[in-house]
Parts: sequence; C-alpha cells; structure tokens
Amino acid sequence: MTASKAASWTWTESWVEESPAVLDARTRAAELGVVAVSPGTGSLLAVLAASLPGRAVVDVGTGTGVAALRMLEAMPENGVLTSIDVEVEHQGAARTALQAAGIRGNRARIIHGDAADVLPRLADGGYDLVHVDVDDPRVSALVLTEALRLLRAGGVLVVSDALAQDRVPDPAQRDQRTTAARELLRAVADDDRLVRTVVPVGDGVLLAVKR
Ligand SMILES: C[S@@+](CC[C@H](N)C(=O)[O-])C[C@H]1O[C@@H](n2cnc3c(N)ncnc32)[C@H](O)[C@@H]1O
Repeated sequence: MTASKAASWTWTESWVEESPAVLDARTRAAELGVVAVSPGTGSLLAVLAASLPGRAVVDVGTGTGVAALRMLEAMPENGVLTSIDVEVEHQGAARTALQAAGIRGNRARIIHGDAADVLPRLADGGYDLVHVDVDDPRVSALVLTEALRLLRAGGVLVVSDALAQDRVPDPAQRDQRTTAARELLRAVADDDRLVRTVVPVGDGVLLAVKR
C-alpha cells in the first residue's frame, strides 16, 4: 500500500463526527484500559444498524458502550440492543454513557455474563445484526454457529478486530487468539449460507450476511 493510500484510509476513520456521549465513552474506555471500536468501525456499525429493516441487535463485548451507542443512535426509536460483557465495571460505564446520550432504558438490555453462556440463551432467528468485539478464543469458536442461529435471513454478522491487531496475515503469529481469528475467517469463507467480506476499517471488520 502506498503512503498516500494509508493516509487516505486513516483520514476516513475520522470523517464522521462522534456525539459527545460517544466521545465520553471513549475517554472512559481509555481510563479502564478497554479497546473501543475505532471511529471508522463505529460509523460502519451505525450505517448497518440504520439500514437494517429490523429492530434487534446483539452486541458481544459491551466495553464502555462505544459500539453500542453508535448503533443505538442510528437505529429507529424502537430499536433494541442486547449487550453482553463479563466485566461489571465496563458495563457500569456503558450504562452511564447510554443515559448521558438519552437512550431510554428499555432500548438497551445489558446482560452481565460470559458470552459463551449467554449467547446460547438468546432467541433463534430473533436478531438483525450480531456484533462481536471480544478478545476471547472461546467466543470466536462459537460465534459462527450462534450467529447463524440468532440471525434472521438477511441479518448480518459483524466481527470487529477480525485481523487480531494485524496478526492474522502474518504466518509467524500462532498465538491462541490469532489462530482462533484465522479459524473463524476460514469457517465463514467456507460457509455457503453466508455472503461475506473483510472491510479494511479499524482493525479489520468481518461482515457476513445470512442468505
Ligand atoms: C474490545 S472490548 C469491547 C469494546 C466495545 N465494543 C466498545 O466499542 O466500547 C472487549 C470487551 O469484551 C469483554 N469480554 C471479554 N471476554 C468476554 C466474554 N467471554 N464474554 C463477554 N464479554 C467478554 C471485556 O470485558 C471487554 O469489555
């Protein structure tokens, strides 16, 4: 990639301005050591959330609520987001961010727990978008099966940091997290029930629409 191409893609990351509530959630993420989705990834999530005909989203890895807020701000007023995280402190910060943004409590179902336990309890075919942003190989291993079960036809799976902080393309990187990310990408690429791509935004975003 040329230097000017890299500069262009960096520029696109900040093309859309974020709301004060999202910026506050980013500040809180930095304080708590949480890696929030990049501004470009947040914008992509907002566009997807706004474009879907349905009203129900799953967000795996609430963090301080940056991704959740970007989607809730873009969805119709009756759109509902279910968000899962193992860290109470992260979810507390996310709740504060959603309140500051004026998001009604009944639009955000914040579930505390391990996604590996919680995802299997969510309703079959009940969701339009499943966003996954957790650095946990156990979750990567079940994401495809769970997303295919949770999504309605036409729904979309979105995996942030799909390239594991740029390690996936480097064959010398063989840690558990990178291997799990590669396996998920391979499984999605091999699955004819999905139309898929990886978008070079943020840390690489995997998009897969269920046919
Ligand atoms: C990268 S951060 C998510 C950032 C968030 N998407 C945002 O934009 O603000 C990952 C989050 O996943 C949570 N997490 C890690 N493993 C998890 C698991 N097995 N189940 C649920 N949450 C998990 C962490 O506590 C952390 O808050």
